[in-house]
Amino acid sequence: MTSKGFIFMDIDRAQPPTGPKKDPVESLGADMCPAGLPTVTVQMLRDPDTLRRMREAGAVHHVNMGGREPGWILTRHDAAAKALVDPRLRGEPPRAWPSRTGPQEVTDEEDLFFLPDDVHARLRRMISRQLTPRRVAALTARIQREADRLLDAVAPAETVDFIASFARPFPVAVLCELLGVPETGRGHIRDYVYGWIAEGGEATPVTKSAGLAMTEYLESLIARRWTRPGDDLISAMAQADGASRTDVLSAVRLLLIAGHRPVTRLLTDGVAMLLARPGLWRHLDPARVETTVEELLRVVTPTSLSSRYVKADIEIDGVVLPEGGGVHCALGAVNRDPARFRDPDAFDPARPDNPHLAFGLGHKHCLGAALARVEARTAIATLARRFPRMRLARDRQPRPDRPGARRMPVILDPSPTPAP
Ligand code: HEM
Repeated sequence: MTSKGFIFMDIDRAQPPTGPKKDPVESLGADMCPAGLPTVTVQMLRDPDTLRRMREAGAVHHVNMGGREPGWILTRHDAAAKALVDPRLRGEPPRAWPSRTGPQEVTDEEDLFFLPDDVHARLRRMISRQLTPRRVAALTARIQREADRLLDAVAPAETVDFIASFARPFPVAVLCELLGVPETGRGHIRDYVYGWIAEGGEATPVTKSAGLAMTEYLESLIARRWTRPGDDLISAMAQADGASRTDVLSAVRLLLIAGHRPVTRLLTDGVAMLLARPGLWRHLDPARVETTVEELLRVVTPTSLSSRYVKADIEIDGVVLPEGGGVHCALGAVNRDPARFRDPDAFDPARPDNPHLAFGLGHKHCLGAALARVEARTAIATLARRFPRMRLARDRQPRPDRPGARRMPVILDPSPTPAP
């Protein structure tokens, strides 16, 4: 059975009655790697039912991540929250991993997300010193303008693809505003970012050539900002003491890679969920947009994993994890842990206590969390205000240019809600 084609089995019935004790994740029907470990795939990490069963089966599981490497998966909130801030875990993977053999499933632009510790610390410092709450607050009006500009261009009362017309371009436009990429250069960013999403986050010839063109463009933009700074993030990072152009380029690439896909996913899956449940969209309370977005972050959990590596043997929930092992928090499981969230599968926009880990935690906590929150609040509030009768459409036609690409047909209806 391939890792993509597995069939879930009943977890209890699948337990062997006798013999050596096996990790219960195996009984979820996961493909087995040559080392005899269940292979956890991206699909498994996004499926709430599988995640629930993994969590119920235990807090720690020894698995193979996407056919890539052996590691440990954490499924419960308390174990993940402790692990992510534990100094015995770090972000840099050991160099000695065998080279990738299976499909590139549980990965992103790895060179940027799993940098050597010293480079990571340097880039993180460079970004966090400049991507401040003040900078995000100063960007709010421009974020609103970008949301309105995209929505102004959509034909009202016609079926449109929400992903292509809003959820995908909006975070890219916001990143360009943040970084100070002028209108004339945004095509380079879009070509790369859209290709990256369309290819499922894998490096392909298309993304590689778009990546090269974008890098070339960014190098020239950074050189210009070096001598003639503006009020944007690239200029601010370039002005910092000891900044090198290479570091600024790496920081910009990291922000572009990290800062679009989770926002697109949050808006796509979040809005789809709000529209699918009768009454939820029409009764969205503008005064509750902040808690609504927090609840969407918890329920959607746009980024499936937060990963670390063991620096020195560590015991988690009674299991000893040896030095060098990967520790991967399955955030979708963690964010629906009933030990931490009452009625965890319910969407409750008024949930009073919501310590979700959608942005991770600790020394790799999301650097764009404040910006992402403003983006999501602006998007949800603007859509609900302008299109109170927005609804999912039935059109399921594949996109002619990209038959495999995901679509979300909607009708953005601007007519006011009828009185109850
Ligand atoms: C809904 C939106 C977003 C979600 C759910 C999200 C989630 C995450 C998660 C889970 C991590 C890993 C944290 C960890 O391992 O502890 C992360 C890292 C990161 N995020 Fe986000 N993110 C979002 C939006 C953004 C945006 C808009 C930006 C940039 C403008 C951004 C920039 C980053 C960066 C640079 C990192 C790497 C941090 C590091 O390695 O030190 N993210 N994000």
